[in-house]
Order: sequence, then C-alpha cells, then structure tokens
Amino acid sequence: KADGPARQGELGLDLGSKRLGSKGIEFHGVGFSWPDGTLVLRPFEHALEPGDRLGIVGPNGAGKSTLLDMVAGRLTPTEGKIDIGRTVKVGYYDQLGRDLDLSKRVRDAVAGDKGAPSLEDLQLMKRFWFDGDAQFAPIGTLSGGERRRLQLMLTLIEQPNVLLLDEPTNDLDLDTLRALEDYLDDWPGIVVVVSHDRAFIDRTVEEILSLDGEGGASLMVGGVDAWLKMRSARPASSRNMPAQRTGAQKTAPQAPQHEVAKIKKKRTPSTLNRLIANNEKDQEKRNKRRTDLEDSIAKAGGDHEKLAALSLSLAEVQADLDRLENEWLEYTTELED
Ligand SMILES: Nc1ncnc2c1ncn2[C@@H]1O[C@H](COP(=O)(O)OP(=O)(O)OP(=O)(O)O)[C@@H](O)[C@H]1O
Ligand SMILES: [Mg+2]
Repeated sequence: KADGPARQGELGLDLGSKRLGSKGIEFHGVGFSWPDGTLVLRPFEHALEPGDRLGIVGPNGAGKSTLLDMVAGRLTPTEGKIDIGRTVKVGYYDQLGRDLDLSKRVRDAVAGDKGAPSLEDLQLMKRFWFDGDAQFAPIGTLSGGERRRLQLMLTLIEQPNVLLLDEPTNDLDLDTLRALEDYLDDWPGIVVVVSHDRAFIDRTVEEILSLDGEGGASLMVGGVDAWLKMRSARPASSRNMPAQRTGAQKTAPQAPQHEVAKIKKKRTPSTLNRLIANNEKDQEKRNKRRTDLEDSIAKAGGDHEKLAALSLSLAEVQADLDRLENEWLEYTTELED
C-alpha cells in the first residue's frame, strides 16, 4: 500500500521515511526550456533508484533548481517525461524556503493538523535543537538561520522517501549541517543534493550529475572523488589561506572548464538582469556565511580539528565569492555592451 505507515516498530529506522518501493524516479529524455524559448536542459536520461545519493553540481543558472523543481512536480518537463514510482514521497528543502506562519509556535507548526507533536516529531525536534523552551518560541521571533533550520525540519517531518536539498550549506549553520549529515547517514531513502560545498557533497552523496551551464547534464565519471579532485585543482591562494583574505588579495580562482564554457553565449538584457539579481542574492548569502564562519573560527579556540574544518569551509565560501564577483562583473559588462 502506497501510504501505509511503513515503519517497523522499534527498528529505530530513525524518525522515519515512508517506505520506498522498488521504483524510484526515472528521467526519460527529460529536457526543459522556458516559455520564451530559453533552453535550460537538453534531454537527458537518468534513473534514481532506492538508496541512491546524487549530487547535482554546475555553475549558477545551469538549471539545478529547475531540475529539482521538475522532480518535485513544480515544473513540467518541456521534453520527455519523469516517471515517478507510486510509493515516492518527495520532500523538498528548496532555495527560497517554504512559507512560515510567523504567529505560530514552532511546536504547533511541527504538529500541524495533529494538534500535538508525535513522539517522532519530538525526537526530530530534539535532533535539530527545537526541544525545551525553543519549541514554544513563536516563529516570528526566530532568526533567519533558525527559520531555515525549522524549514528543514518541517521537510523531514513529512517523512519523505526522496529528499531534495537545494544548497543547504548556504543558510544552515555548521551544527545543523552536521546534524543533517548524521541524519542522512542512516536514512534509507533517495537523496538529491545541489551544493558547491565539498565537505557536504563528500559526506552525503555518492554520484555526481554535472550540469555544464549549456544545457548538458551528465553523470560524472569517477563520481564524487573525481569532482573533488577537479574542485581542488583551484589555485592554492583561495584555498589554503583563508585567514589572509583581505580586499587586497584578489587572485580569482580559475573556473573549471565547464563554467567557462557558458560565458560565450549571447544573452538578452532581461536574462542578464536576472543573472545579476541572482548573483547578488548569492553573494549576500555567502557573505553572511563567511561572517558566520569567521565568528565560529574566532570561537573555536584551540580545537585544531574544528579550526581546520572551518578554515576549509571558509576557503570554499571565499572561492565561491570570488567566482560570483567575476561573474557579476562579466554580466554587468555584457549588459553595458
Ligand atoms: N521563472 C523563470 N523564467 C525564466 N527563466 C528563469 C526563471 N527562473 C529561472 N530562470 C532561468 O533559468 C535558468 C536556470 O535557473 P536555475 O534556478 O535552475 O539555475 P541554478 O542552477 O539553480 O542556479 P543557482 O546556482 O543560481 O541556484 C537560469 O538561467 C535562470 O536565470
Ligand atoms: Mg538554484
């Protein structure tokens, strides 16, 4: 039965996901263009099977969110078909964040129509630090980061068996990301993660679908390891010396091959304006994350392992920012031409 409670008693299959049958999600010649004809994705084939953990990577605007939106049924492919197994239940932590009723308390938002949180709800709340007093906080009093954490938890509470995560490392703090990684460790469903974050990709996925920014989507040969290698081929200046990041140090990392490729396209002013707006939003997010990381580094004291991890994340954020600044410059120049 599609939606019977599939969890088996005390198996501790942790905070549950509805059981996934043998069929996951199949992409048959799936492609997407916007109504104005702008091509986002050329037809591609892929199958997500139970237990699959897929990372989606690619430059800004390559169509990563569009792809997730199609899986979630928010957008319909303009070519081909997505075949979704009957037991599939999609949970989507998207880039924008779901609407929250700010007047509600956390606990009531979690409980939904049930009136009171279930035992599983309470466990999950504990796992993501919404236990104790925090569960009684009106959502309107939560910080931006806390709201994102709540949105993540609300996604998990629906017990999906296919979890879509769009850039979770952009707005979730490090502790939450660690809790999420742990949660996914023994989570039985399909996971699809869009991320630039090496550490997060490394921890959560096994395969990489790479979007080239020109409409191409292909499974990366060599998987996560190959992608990590490609990413670490960036110049050391942006990787190893986060502490010395200053306005003066401006050596931009070289964009990987496929990020360069898309630049040559002719773009309309409206496309460019959208790219610029998206870019600025992205920069803002990463600037915030950089500040958070710097704070965490300041507080890490003599914990060398933690410092190393934080510095690595900081270097990555900085590399992203450098890339975004370059792109911004390129878009604005092209717009003025
Ligand atoms: N509603 C829309 N109408 C027309 N074009 C859109 C619309 N939304 C997004 N686009 C464009 O479609 C393309 C793909 O966007 P998408 O959001 O999927 O990219 P992305 O890979 O998720 O990028 P990012 O890394 O910035 O999140 C981009 O060129 C974007 O500007
Ligand atoms: Mg996106």
